[in-house]
Amino acid sequence: MCGIVAYLGDKEAYPILINGLRRLEYRGYDSAGVALMNGDVLTIHKCQGKVSDLESHVVGKSLSGSIGIGHTRWATHGPPNDVNAHPHRSTSGDLALIHNGIIENYASIKEELGHRGHIFQSDTDTEVLVHLIDDIQRTEKVDLAEAVRLALASVVGAYAIVVLDSKEPDLMVAARKSSPLVIGIGEGEFFCASDATPIVEHTKNVVYLEDGEIAVIDRTNGLKIRNVKNQEKTPFIQELEMHLETLEKGGYDHFMLKEINEQPRSIRDSMRGRLNLAKGEVVLGGIKDYEQKFVNAKRILIVGCGTSWHAGMVGEYLFEEFARIPVEVEYASEFRYRNPIVNENDLVIAISQSGETADTLAAIELAKNRGATIIGICNVVGSSIARVTHAGSYTHAGPEIGVASTKAFTAQVTVLTLMALMVGQKKGVLSGSNFYRLLNELDAIPEKVQKVLATEAQIKYIADIYKDATNALYLGRGYSFPVALEGALKLKEISYIHAEGYPAAEMKHGPIALIDEEMPVFVIATKGASYEKVVSNIQEVKARKGKIIAIVTQGDSVVRELADHVIEIPETPDALVPLLSVIPFQLISYHIAVMRGCNVDQPRNLAKSVTVE
Ligand code: F6R
Repeated sequence: MCGIVAYLGDKEAYPILINGLRRLEYRGYDSAGVALMNGDVLTIHKCQGKVSDLESHVVGKSLSGSIGIGHTRWATHGPPNDVNAHPHRSTSGDLALIHNGIIENYASIKEELGHRGHIFQSDTDTEVLVHLIDDIQRTEKVDLAEAVRLALASVVGAYAIVVLDSKEPDLMVAARKSSPLVIGIGEGEFFCASDATPIVEHTKNVVYLEDGEIAVIDRTNGLKIRNVKNQEKTPFIQELEMHLETLEKGGYDHFMLKEINEQPRSIRDSMRGRLNLAKGEVVLGGIKDYEQKFVNAKRILIVGCGTSWHAGMVGEYLFEEFARIPVEVEYASEFRYRNPIVNENDLVIAISQSGETADTLAAIELAKNRGATIIGICNVVGSSIARVTHAGSYTHAGPEIGVASTKAFTAQVTVLTLMALMVGQKKGVLSGSNFYRLLNELDAIPEKVQKVLATEAQIKYIADIYKDATNALYLGRGYSFPVALEGALKLKEISYIHAEGYPAAEMKHGPIALIDEEMPVFVIATKGASYEKVVSNIQEVKARKGKIIAIVTQGDSVVRELADHVIEIPETPDALVPLLSVIPFQLISYHIAVMRGCNVDQPRNLAKSVTVE
């Protein structure tokens, strides 16, 4: 939530910042701003709205300066408006600051500073921080870096910040705690950003700032890192693996559609080097040292939020079926505050696309403190979750920019499938022939996803019929239940149609009362363990005149007779159906949202990386 970007070098900062903000806009898009330093003149431009509104806002204004900071906001404290937009300025006017996170004790600091004559313009927690730094500079007579360090020592909460000071015009100071910050190191130039996407086109050399670290970036002395205790740290420079073309729309109208269509490749990438058909084995290098922990685990806990939680539910079915290990799937936000029973015998799998979700991070911390082993499944390399877990497997889906998660889900499910198969084989639960059959089936999934994608024209036709619905129901059983939840989430988050996902058999315990001729009911009715039961559920919907859109196995004729529309997917074992059946749901949500004129990639009120609880 909130994207921050900063530049110090020989070039004009503004074009670099604005381009960076466009890349970070998925993190928040209710206001945007930049501060530019030209010599000792510090200018701020900011306004409510998207980055494109900022671009219109600055037309004809002075944009010179080779040091600058930029921000795109997702409002927490104070409504989205011009005044609450970042950067925020100190009373003296010397300092400008951008912030991603929440300063929890801002109210008490604000009161104290108010008594000392500080006048606040905005409703934000962030503005308090810039006043505090300014106050410390004056009272303690210290430079910017030291004032930032002292200020952060009295702050409770999460932050990634970058601060400029017109009294020190060749310097910027950045710091982080619980919100991500990456520093790019180019030839005589430096970048800071919430993630590497604004940096990759300028340099591949980056340093991921650790919690409690402060980076002082100076034209003469370059990058120096120290921690809040004032101990110097040696920057650990890593090379980015990201490619620029993965950050572009590549001819698609929206990132979401591009990412849906990327799934044959992204699923393949999640398996690459891990699924070896020739040798008949699964090797997950990142968790190799923890294989025995899996094999001996008496229980697995899976934590995540939103779509990642849905992937975790598929994981529950996979581990229980293939490895016979009991699994509990927890919303990270509930788990962290529930005083859950966790101990050193537990293995916790934390799933997160961004690797920055605050609730998931807190759940990991809790489980870690109680001695559990934590395995991460993250998409973003170098993210906080990837770094705090004991071990893990990246999903390698490539950057996901559309706010609604699509390829991340299928990549997470692919990795969970590989893990469950690997553990099942090592435990001897899966026979050699069954294991090998499933490996082959998994290997065939990318081509089958491609076939499902080919049904897009038909899905668009169905979308047109139901685009004006006000409610929708999604039903599935077994492995298809989490997909029903995911289908409903996709529809509501981008098209704002109320939708609910239910286990098909639960329908008769309440939701059936909602069904009438206006209600589209999306049902996963593929051939498999609960096929006949789901067919009965479809009959129940039909008897109440609900409209049935069924996802069926290729060649199915029974459901075709009953349903208003069927979308065929290739045959695959039950355990792998989610990787195929979710695709029509992603596409239908996408097309309905486009037809309703919704902003698909940036749905209202949402942000991609939820770094606040
Ligand atoms: C839905 C969606 C969210 C995320 C959730 C967790 O399309 O994207 O529900 O899945 O915010 O995010 P990560 O996976 O980054 O932890």
